[in-house]
Amino acid sequence: MDKTVILTGLRANNDLHIGNYFGALLPIIELAHKYSSNDYQINLFVPDLHSFTTPIDHSKLYEQTIRNIKLYVAAGLPIDNDNILLYRQSFVPAHSELTWILDNFTTFSALRRMQQFEDKAGLLKDNEAEEDSDEHLVLRQSLTHQQLNTVSVGLFNYPVLMAADILLYDATYVPVGADQTQHLEFTRDLAMHVNNKFISHGELFTIPKSIKEQNEFFNRSAPLKIKDLISPDKKMSKSNQSDRGVIFLNDDPNESAKKIMSATTDNLGLIGSDPDKQPGVHNLMQILALLSGSSLDDVLTTWVGRTSYSELKSAVAEKTKTFITSLQETYSTINDQQILDKVARDEVTVNAIANAKIAKVHSAIGLRQ
Ligand code: ADP
Ligand code: TRP
Repeated sequence: MDKTVILTGLRANNDLHIGNYFGALLPIIELAHKYSSNDYQINLFVPDLHSFTTPIDHSKLYEQTIRNIKLYVAAGLPIDNDNILLYRQSFVPAHSELTWILDNFTTFSALRRMQQFEDKAGLLKDNEAEEDSDEHLVLRQSLTHQQLNTVSVGLFNYPVLMAADILLYDATYVPVGADQTQHLEFTRDLAMHVNNKFISHGELFTIPKSIKEQNEFFNRSAPLKIKDLISPDKKMSKSNQSDRGVIFLNDDPNESAKKIMSATTDNLGLIGSDPDKQPGVHNLMQILALLSGSSLDDVLTTWVGRTSYSELKSAVAEKTKTFITSLQETYSTINDQQILDKVARDEVTVNAIANAKIAKVHSAIGLRQ
């Protein structure tokens, strides 16, 4: 029986932060522990080709990729399990090739609907990004020449490469954050379209499960969204303009505590439980819950009704410092060669899987007989 494939990737456009850690990395590692039986194959990769769809410092990309892989391991990813495949996207040329092929079955308007393109192309201001879709339609029509002159075709085409990442391996489950679910829906639509078009060749691609089924499988209701410490109306992000609101996993531990102490709160003077009224304070309690391994409800029970924001900040700062220190200690004990060997081995394995899929696609679309 074929194994069920669970696949995901984290871009290496910058160092990872606590939002990536709790929102994506830890859930994946838990999954890897839970599902690395012989019935499942876990594909965890670094989408390094996706890492420069917005400008980066290219002299750091290679090292950044390796650092992120080491962080997976420092965070607890087992590397002695052949059901877990760890690899870099650019080391598997089939990803790029399938992207080109799929591009020809993708319409301009399907890509033009993608929210991430809107946000990252700077077509919307940050606080407009989550508003309703009618408004987006209006804003979308007002693309200026200047915007078109600065945004790359790579950013526009991002979802097709992501679809190729998923479809090459017939992945069924793809754990991603809220900002990526639209790309997953796009992948499903594209796969169904291509499967139907070449139906005489059997089912070319496995259709990943719907978002609803994915959420059921991963047993989660709402994806986590840690907010920026300085601008708690925005999510904490690798690409936020200022580093002051972002706790990077490789921050100096004292510096990370200082960032917490200078987090934006409000002037109500009373800790409440409404995230809309007090986004900064609520975010701090959310971070405290994650760092203490407690539920948010328990943290709310302890803190709501108290009046000292600085006590709350001190509690979060101390936990943050301990967490960052301990993660960095584990990171420093990692044997680089052991990880590079695992990645090199797994890249041979995944190239074979991906090339077999490309051969089927070539034959379906008429490039080979
Ligand atoms: P970033 O916005 O920091 O560049 P990515 O878009 O590369 O992050 O996302 C990598 C993964 O981390 C995704 O699954 C995403 O949903 C998750 N993630 C990113 N930021 C956060 C956050 N602030 N809170 C929770 N999860 C997050
Ligand atoms: N787009 C994802 C993100 O920004 C990263 C990614 C690229 C990915 N290819 C993927 C995630 C395939 C899951 C599956 O987080």
